Amino acid sequence: MGRVASSSGRPPGSARSVRVFAPASVSNLGPGFDIFGLALERPGDEVVVRAAPGSGIVSLTVTGDGGRVPTDPLRNAAALAVQGVLDRLGAGAGVAIEVHKGIPLASGLGGSAASAVAGAVAADALLDGALDRTALLECALIGESKGSGADHADNAAPSLAGGFVLVLQGRPPRMVQLPTPEEMVVAVAHPALEVETLGARTILGDTIPLGAGILQWGNAAGLVAAFFRKDWDLIARCVRDAVAEPARAGLVPGFHRVKAAALEAGAVAAGLSGSGPSVFALCRGQLAAEAAAAAMAEAFMLEAGVESDIVISGTNAAGARILEME
Ligand code: HSE
Repeated sequence: MGRVASSSGRPPGSARSVRVFAPASVSNLGPGFDIFGLALERPGDEVVVRAAPGSGIVSLTVTGDGGRVPTDPLRNAAALAVQGVLDRLGAGAGVAIEVHKGIPLASGLGGSAASAVAGAVAADALLDGALDRTALLECALIGESKGSGADHADNAAPSLAGGFVLVLQGRPPRMVQLPTPEEMVVAVAHPALEVETLGARTILGDTIPLGAGILQWGNAAGLVAAFFRKDWDLIARCVRDAVAEPARAGLVPGFHRVKAAALEAGAVAAGLSGSGPSVFALCRGQLAAEAAAAAMAEAFMLEAGVESDIVISGTNAAGARILEME
C-alpha cells in the first residue's frame, strides 16, 4: 500500500509543522471481531506535530477531551505512535504534539486509534515521509494498544487507509481494502454513555463455542462476498455477531430495541459499533440513513433516557490525510 494523501501540495520532509486528520471508524461490522473496520467521513481527531528544540517528545497538549486524555507521553495514544515513528526512523529530533479530539471518548468509534494514526502520519511527514502504510499502522498500533489497553487493529487500519478494511493480524499486520456499495450510507447513534474497550473485551473470555465460530466465519466470509456483489440481502444476512455482541449487549441500555428500531426504519443491517455504546446501521441511501438515525436516537431516549449524537456518513475512502504543512 502507498503513502498517505496530502492536500498541502508540499513535499514531505521540508516542514516545521504538520497537521493531520484521522477519521472515526466502525469496527467489527457484525461478524468481523478485530478484523473488519470501516472509515467514516466524520468525526475525526486532528494531531499537529511540530519541530521543537530538544530531543524526543518535548511537549504534549490535548484539547476537546474535557481534560480526560492522559498528557503523559507514555500513556497517550498519539504520543506513543509519534515515538514509534521517531524510533523507527532513528530520529533524535525534538517534537511538540497537539492532539485535538473530535471523536468522543469511549464511544466505540475508534477515537484512540484515530489519535494514534494522526500522530504517526504527522510525525512521519514532519521527518521525511519515509514510512509506508504498514509501518505507519505498526506505529499507530503501539499507541492504540498501550493507550487504550487493548490490542486490535480494526479501527487503526481503516482510519489510516480509508474504506472498508480487512486487517489480518501478525507481524507485520496486513491490510486488505475491500469495496462497499456506492449507495451505502452509514448511520450511527452515539448515546450519552461510555463503554471502556478494555472492560468490554475482558468479559468475552478466551474461547468461543464451535457453533458460534461456524456462524461467525460464515458471516464474515459472506459479508466480504456481499460487498463485492453489492448483494443487499446477503449484507442483511451476514451483519450478525455470534461472539461479542451477545455478550456486550447488556453494557448498552436499550441496545436490542435501538437495533430493532433501525431495522424497522429501513436500515439493511445494524449492530454494535466496536465495543459500543454507539450503534451503527448500514443503509441504502441518505434518506434511509436519516430515518434509521432518527429511529435509533428516539429508541435510546425511550429505552435508556439518554440523548444521542447522530452521524450520517458515506464510506471515507481517503482515510487519514495531511491538512497542513508549514
Ligand atoms: N474489535 C474491537 C472490539 C474494537 O470489539 O473490542 C474496539 O473498538
